[in-house]
Amino acid sequence: MTGGGRGILAADESVRTMSARMKAEGVPASEAARRDYRELLLTAGGLAESVSGIILCDETFGQRLSDGRTFPEAARELGVLPGIKVDTGTTPLPGHDRALVTEGLDGLGARLASYAERGAAFAKWRAVFGVRSADTYTARANGHTLARYAALCQQHGIVPIVEPEVLCDGDHGLPACAETTHRVLGRLFEELDLAGVELTGIVLKPNFVTPGLAAPAVAPSAVAAATFEVLDGTVPPAVPGIAFLSGGHRTVDACAFLRELSAVPGRPWQVTFSFGRALVSDALHLWAGDAANAPRAQEALLRNCREAAEATR
Ligand code: 13P
Repeated sequence: MTGGGRGILAADESVRTMSARMKAEGVPASEAARRDYRELLLTAGGLAESVSGIILCDETFGQRLSDGRTFPEAARELGVLPGIKVDTGTTPLPGHDRALVTEGLDGLGARLASYAERGAAFAKWRAVFGVRSADTYTARANGHTLARYAALCQQHGIVPIVEPEVLCDGDHGLPACAETTHRVLGRLFEELDLAGVELTGIVLKPNFVTPGLAAPAVAPSAVAAATFEVLDGTVPPAVPGIAFLSGGHRTVDACAFLRELSAVPGRPWQVTFSFGRALVSDALHLWAGDAANAPRAQEALLRNCREAAEATR
């Protein structure tokens, strides 16, 4: 999932998020439109040269391509491992101003068994933290749920992508993001250890350590150095691979961060991408709901995927 100069395409926006992104591009959102768009992404010719896996949401996982194959079947035939987002979203954490905890553990074992039977190779669960709202308890609560999710995935033969995302909205500087990311990852690995999760069988999906999007930018080399320092202090070498989210950064920036980080000597883990917006936003914009635009949209997706893959090499 994280080696061989390939990365993971995150195409698992919830029905609500996907519909909102379509509307923003002037595309009427419908089940069929979401299906057509995801089919366009998955069937871009040669996607598997730079993409090892695709994360799907429940709706897409159960849909069929126009040729009748299910999405997970088609993905495997195209050389791309199918994955499934299994969390059910976030809810406020009482008593912890603006903090969120991710839900979805109820019935998760049965859902994982069903996804595994239908071809899922891996799963994803995202916890989300504000730089200023992620206190120790918030980090522990989300770390605990991520650990329970990961343990359940492993019980069902599914590789868990463990995603603790420290948001990059805001005007905070690099040190604030580093401090919060360090706290979040530190608690997460304590919880994974307590839950008995086999670290050699997870993929970590963190944020890059950057200043807030509304703060002055720093050089990609500074982002890579800060990111490596935080990971080196928190992520055990047993973790085989780290696949970064793009978090709202521009494609060119996310790829530059990855390129610099890939060049850091002495890294114990593979590093790659599991970008969503940085790979697909151009394609959605170019497609705009019209099948005639699909080839151009696919070209844009492939260009971004190739650039990200190249950055890992
Ligand atoms: P972005 O790369 O757009 O942040 O999305 C990645 C993802 O999977 C978020 O859960």
